[in-house]
Amino acid sequence: MTNKKLTTAAGCPVAHNQDVMTAGKRGPQLLQDVWFLEKLAHFDREVIPERRMHAKGSAAFGKFTVTQDITQYTRAKIFSEIGKETELFTRFSTVAGERGAADAERDIRGFAVKFYTEEGNWDLVGNNTPVFFLRDPLKFPDLNHAVKRDPKTNLRSATNNWDFWTSLPEALHQVTIVMSDRGIPASYRHMHGFGSHTFSFINADNERFWVKFHLVTQQGIKNLTDAEAEALVGKDRESHQKDLFDAIENSNFPQWILKVQVMPEADAAKVAYNPFDLTKVWPHKDYPLIEVGVMELNRNPENYFADVEQAAFNPGNIVPGIGFSPDKMLQGRLFSYGDAQRYRLGVNHNHIPVNAARCPVHSYHRDGQMRTDGNHGATIGYEPNSQGEWAEQPDFSEPPLALDGAAAHWDHREDDDYFSQAGDLFRLMSPEQQQALFNNTAASMADVPDDIKLRHIKHCSAADSAYGAGVKAALGM
Ligand code: HEM
Repeated sequence: MTNKKLTTAAGCPVAHNQDVMTAGKRGPQLLQDVWFLEKLAHFDREVIPERRMHAKGSAAFGKFTVTQDITQYTRAKIFSEIGKETELFTRFSTVAGERGAADAERDIRGFAVKFYTEEGNWDLVGNNTPVFFLRDPLKFPDLNHAVKRDPKTNLRSATNNWDFWTSLPEALHQVTIVMSDRGIPASYRHMHGFGSHTFSFINADNERFWVKFHLVTQQGIKNLTDAEAEALVGKDRESHQKDLFDAIENSNFPQWILKVQVMPEADAAKVAYNPFDLTKVWPHKDYPLIEVGVMELNRNPENYFADVEQAAFNPGNIVPGIGFSPDKMLQGRLFSYGDAQRYRLGVNHNHIPVNAARCPVHSYHRDGQMRTDGNHGATIGYEPNSQGEWAEQPDFSEPPLALDGAAAHWDHREDDDYFSQAGDLFRLMSPEQQQALFNNTAASMADVPDDIKLRHIKHCSAADSAYGAGVKAALGM
């Protein structure tokens, strides 16, 4: 039987949890009321920093099951045989809003999956869009300062937002998606997920392939219009959280099919676009989607703070058979997540159960705040040593990657095309979807100065003259 009797954090019985100790019935409180001191002191420290972006999220545990053989591309053990199951944890999020923001906002959505593989954790930290606003990580803090609150008014500012986006032609592709009818997903269950970046696969013969990951919703795509979202937010600010939680609680387990696009290593030099540019997709006709397996979410966390708030996803967590690519944005992210988590959760955040690998961990690190395991006891802490301790594992080396070129701060805008793919996307839309894109853009830009509107119209026109004309008309210009 569980003991329901109240104790202090040190396990000592608490005799009084209703009235503080005072000197006399009407007198002041006494400092020796240590339970009061402990209770308030702990309460004062309950809030931890929220994630700098993606602060508001919902998550669940589940499993990944392999349905197709892709061992010709990767030696990652998670994919080693059909039918193999791997536990996972997935956190969805909105991006710009704070921890208390409403769910049904026009914004991209985070889609982060932690696969607890037998060779360590593989974190696929993606979004619900295949591209991003930027292709250079140096601009990431600027993006966030532009979409978050204005330093003086403390209000979200459409002007700051559009001033920044329209100053970067490479943002148009992502902006077109955000302003489209897909800009407000009805729920986290009704959207796709994308690893977005180009990653690599390494197979058993040590051959490299470039790869993009897609998670295709089996619930179907469902979106909200601005008007529907406005009405919903007035009644329910937690619509995504409620939808996901209730579906799982009712055993209506959501599923996504994991698919990959695979590009032979040598093709990267041959395709007409930069395959490592995060503002671009790989055309499906050239690199078709290959099915890999199915992700199912089937268990709500018992405690939101323990699992969801303390979850730490890191694009740097990869397993043998899966690697990085020269995508600069991915490279930038490899620094930022662990760094943010050391600040947000502490240096030993990998020991928190939701983050801990499900396979044996024998990492080198010692000490640090909140070390709660045995800290490797008496094991020596240096390498090389004569005990064979902490031996590196060269069998898992990747093949060398050929790189060339002079080091410089290269200006990618000089010779790259940021309009064709945005135009392709526009031309794929039905007339109704195009009109929704015009209207959503106009609504979002309503209070923005004219010069910024004109800059956007110019970019839209470069993608497709009908795109520019439609936005111009919707803006009444
Ligand atoms: C969260 C940085 C681009 C998806 C975060 C966090 C940081 C960060 C610091 C908070 C991490 C934490 O406190 O645990 C960056 C930087 C980027 C970048 C520097 C570009 C250079 C992207 C891109 C994607 C993405 C391109 C998707 C393709 C996410 C997701 C989360 C997140 C899904 C939330 C993870 C969770 O649920 O805990 N990012 N990010 N980020 N980012 Fe990024």
